[in-house]
Amino acid sequence: MNKINVIPLPYAYEALEPVISKQIMELHHDKHYVAYVNGANAALERPEKNRESIRDFSFNYNGAKMHEVFFANMRPARENNRPEGKVLEAINKNFSSFENFQKEFSQAAVTVEGSGWAVLWQNEEGELFVGQLEKHNLLALNGAKPILVLDVWEHAYYLDYLNDRKKYVEEWWQIVNWDDVGKRLN
Ligand SMILES: [Fe+2]
Repeated sequence: MNKINVIPLPYAYEALEPVISKQIMELHHDKHYVAYVNGANAALERPEKNRESIRDFSFNYNGAKMHEVFFANMRPARENNRPEGKVLEAINKNFSSFENFQKEFSQAAVTVEGSGWAVLWQNEEGELFVGQLEKHNLLALNGAKPILVLDVWEHAYYLDYLNDRKKYVEEWWQIVNWDDVGKRLN
């Protein structure tokens, strides 16, 4: 398997303010995400493939890949930031309405125990469903792929929102990049 590369942010560090500060984005991208990329590459180079090195690789590789999706899933804040076109159609079909989907996804994000993610998955049949990941595990679930993810590790919000994860999740909807979600949708 080839080494993986750090992908630069597709916007400036301060572009997501005031929802997510420049300080968080600098730490999140340049320290946390880069550490996962480096960790995955270091694990790939380890000659022995034992349980520890495989777990180490899985944790870091999935961490790197989840962050790639997360950073690309965001853009500068917009008022009334809602999906349109095929994304809205797919959401309506699977969740009855955008409001229902938003409620379910937010609930998933707020209730992740400890460090993890809320994820909107699309399976091979094209169906959408909401799930949670603990830490970074399970990047692919029976062929399903993540099309919208929200990082609820404390490193993603604590400097801006302290322990108010609910507030972070509420504000985050303003910066969802629905065009990027549309590109990931089959
Ligand atoms: Fe993160």
